[in-house]
Amino acid sequence: MKKGIFITVEGGEGGGKSSQVRKLGEVLEQKGHNVLLTREPGGATGAEAIRKLLVEGPGGHWDGITEALLHTAARRDHVVNAIWPALEAGKIVISDRFFDSTIAYQGAAYGVDKAKLEMLTHFGIGDFKPTLTLILDLPVEAGLERAATRGGKETRYESMGADFHEKVRQGFLAIAKADPKRCKVIDASRDIEAIHKDIVAEVLKVL
Ligand code: TMP
Repeated sequence: MKKGIFITVEGGEGGGKSSQVRKLGEVLEQKGHNVLLTREPGGATGAEAIRKLLVEGPGGHWDGITEALLHTAARRDHVVNAIWPALEAGKIVISDRFFDSTIAYQGAAYGVDKAKLEMLTHFGIGDFKPTLTLILDLPVEAGLERAATRGGKETRYESMGADFHEKVRQGFLAIAKADPKRCKVIDASRDIEAIHKDIVAEVLKVL
């Protein structure tokens, strides 16, 4: 039985997930919690190596199934080597993305069958699920504009175009609708502090 709490932050591009994860971590540490902030793809040595393959370079050279396999391989490495040990140690683990991203990107946007993706996830990590998932939702154009200001090499998914990202957005909203107990949609088109306040309120409910 794992002793910590697992929280994930999800959503399309440019919703400010990474800054929100950092701010949430600070608040929880101030309250005396032991926190691990992590991310996908990545969060462990092997998974970070797979991340480079997935987020750099041009878009479109793999189909959705190949990507789903790579994301799931990275996820297993992340879960086994970082998340499970931290939960065993009683930490609050907050991951910037997790398996809902596979359902939204490789499922809703690339069109890979959801049941197959669920099977693959189950093969990789069993029944393991977050206690709480915060979905940062905002219109695609606004998100892509914000993401473009970040710069850097990790532009592969951002380069997929607005139609792809609209499918991602709708994919996340469908996940939230199907599992409202676990998933809370947060309006990420507002300023950072307003988003942060809502996130903290949701997290305090599960602590
Ligand atoms: P990031 O930009 O939020 O760090 O995430 C990297 C990209 O990886 C992002 O564009 C979404 C994509 N991704 C998937 O397509 N499937 C997945 O399962 C995960 C975890 C991320």
